[in-house]
Amino acid sequence: MSAIPPRLEIRNLIRRFDGQPVVNDVSLKVSPGQVTCLLGPSGCGKSTTLRMIAGVEMQDEGEIYVDGNLICDTVFRVPPERRHIGLMFQDFALFPHLTVGDNVAFGLAGSKEQKRARVEELLDKVGLTRFIDGYPYLLSGGEQQRVALVRALAPRPKIMLMDEPFSGLDNRLRDDIRDQTLEILKQEDAAVLLVTHEPEEAMRMADEIALMRDGRIVQQGAPYNIYNAPRDKQAVAFFSDINVIRGKVKGALTETPFGQFLAPGVPDGNEVEIVIRPQHLKIEFDRSGKGPLPTPQHGAAARGEVVRARFMGAESLIEIRMDYDGSILKATVPNVFLPNPGRVLWLMFRRDRCFVFPAG
Ligand SMILES: Nc1ncnc2c1ncn2[C@@H]1O[C@H](COP(=O)(O)OP(=O)(O)O)[C@@H](O)[C@H]1O
Ligand SMILES: [Mg+2]
Repeated sequence: MSAIPPRLEIRNLIRRFDGQPVVNDVSLKVSPGQVTCLLGPSGCGKSTTLRMIAGVEMQDEGEIYVDGNLICDTVFRVPPERRHIGLMFQDFALFPHLTVGDNVAFGLAGSKEQKRARVEELLDKVGLTRFIDGYPYLLSGGEQQRVALVRALAPRPKIMLMDEPFSGLDNRLRDDIRDQTLEILKQEDAAVLLVTHEPEEAMRMADEIALMRDGRIVQQGAPYNIYNAPRDKQAVAFFSDINVIRGKVKGALTETPFGQFLAPGVPDGNEVEIVIRPQHLKIEFDRSGKGPLPTPQHGAAARGEVVRARFMGAESLIEIRMDYDGSILKATVPNVFLPNPGRVLWLMFRRDRCFVFPAG
């Protein structure tokens, strides 16, 4: 039995502008029915990567394969319209002079009846059949978005490339449309590469996240793994606020106001950064000037005073100035907890939830 090649594979793609690589040795595989999110800050090279796959931008180095067949290297190039790729961008535009039905039918081949059947099938999936003979101006932004999605999917593309497709929609609409979009993408079985700079969007949509920074993919994996086993401090910080404690290593351990932390593989004398998300700091109350006793799971407690506490809706955010060096740590707790400024609290560290990195 021979292995089935991935639907989309890019190998070692490089694109330079003015001699500077903006996409730098990017490799990726996407299978049918799988959504991979290229996630990274603005300017890191996401759109350029997508444009090379679409064939509207040429790479300087590297190859692109569809179902194991080369479609583009630096000499050979299948033109964009023959790549079986569907595209969806933020500033998608429906054709204003065509009906909704004709918009969806635009890229379709076949008889009039075949086209009509496919258009009805897709509009039904997005609940817009009643607009089939209407014009795009009749639709809300979210409805136009759904029509653009099914228009791109109508010719059954092997691959869907989506570049920040939801960023034009207002927040409350967005979650529903993301969920519905995901459902349709799965049904249509395309391999999807979705570009976004929003971690929540990637977590919500992706089977796999490829975290991009300065033109490179720095980490790749299931959302759960990227969130819970980030490879460096920036990867933690990309998904949430962080707290950082510094310490110096001695005998694979580092001593801090929160007790000892393991720092395996870091040579003596080097600094490490212990990174923890605000929801994983544990708040303890002052007991007549004493904090809680150390535990193996939480280490030692460090004392501080509340600077500010704010109610955020689902949680409260408490900022605490630490006695040991005057730095401020942020902790969140579910629901309402709004201690007054100046109140003494103790913080502890969940040992299984913090990350220890060599200081960069
Ligand atoms: N045609 C171009 N000429 C010069 N620089 C470009 C061109 N296209 C993109 N860039 C630069 O390449 C970098 C990556 O851009 P882009 O791929 O659009 O990033 P992203 O989509 O992640 O925001 C940016 O610094 C951008 O200014
Ligand atoms: Mg972009």
